Amino acid sequence: MGGQRRPRYADDVLGGPDEAERLRLAAMAEVCDPTTTRVLDELGVAAGWRCLEVGAGAGSIAAWLADRVAAAGHVVATDIDTSHLADLAASRANLTVLRHDVTRDPAPDGGPFDLVHARFVLEHLPEREEVLDRLVAWLKPGGVLVLESIAEFPVDSSPHPPFRAAMRGIGEALARTIGTDSGWARGFPGPLRDRRLVDVGTAVHLPATGGANASARCWTLTLTRLRPRIRELDLASEDTLDEALAQLADPAFFDLAFATVIAWGRGPAGPR
Ligand SMILES: C[S@@+](CC[C@H](N)C(=O)[O-])C[C@H]1O[C@@H](n2cnc3c(N)ncnc32)[C@H](O)[C@@H]1O
Repeated sequence: MGGQRRPRYADDVLGGPDEAERLRLAAMAEVCDPTTTRVLDELGVAAGWRCLEVGAGAGSIAAWLADRVAAAGHVVATDIDTSHLADLAASRANLTVLRHDVTRDPAPDGGPFDLVHARFVLEHLPEREEVLDRLVAWLKPGGVLVLESIAEFPVDSSPHPPFRAAMRGIGEALARTIGTDSGWARGFPGPLRDRRLVDVGTAVHLPATGGANASARCWTLTLTRLRPRIRELDLASEDTLDEALAQLADPAFFDLAFATVIAWGRGPAGPR
């Protein structure tokens, strides 16, 4: 008879409405938003665009997009868990928050879209290739798709054994529980080319982690959240994890955790 259902992101692995998750999303935004908004700016996001922000988290990018597209444009911010988006919905008339599972719910109202953006979402979904097909289908002809995904490669060369073991533990615990693939983005922009997107490009964001900076805060909160799973799977000892947390809290410590790989492309323009 059918086996146990595999846990998903929101099955108390990551996510949830509590304060620690709010702080984790805020730290993530502090580290990553400047790069994301620079890329979106360079891709020409402008007044009047209709945008879809998938897996919006606490909505910092959805808010930036709503300000950029102005009254003539519109932003739909989706997430399977909208608990951190409540205030945002009330704050901007051109922004709609939608509880939506990107793996199976119908196309969100408000499309087709000039821009579809998803940051740190598809790598956590085992059906990421089918989800990517859906995101491409929700674009206007000539619309822009931007994907951002974690990539584990800098961790392997870390000169700090406890930090290296803890970061590998995070990657492996997520892979074995919810099916996260932190190697998928290493093949970017292949998945976009495979779908015949044009004007394809990539960039990598690799923030220094340490000195108790926002990246260190984000990884501390992630490690603390996943610690029971890392231990359950015997991926690192309690002492190693304590040492890694002490390194992340040390103002003199610096290293590289996961990279963010960003890929973009335009849907074919279609018949004139
Ligand atoms: C790591 S967080 C990233 C949040 C935000 N994109 C950011 O970069 O700040 C991943 C987000 O994806 C959402 N998510 C997970 N599975 C989802 C699904 N099947 N459909 C829509 N959103 C999902 C989570 O609830 C969470 O808000």
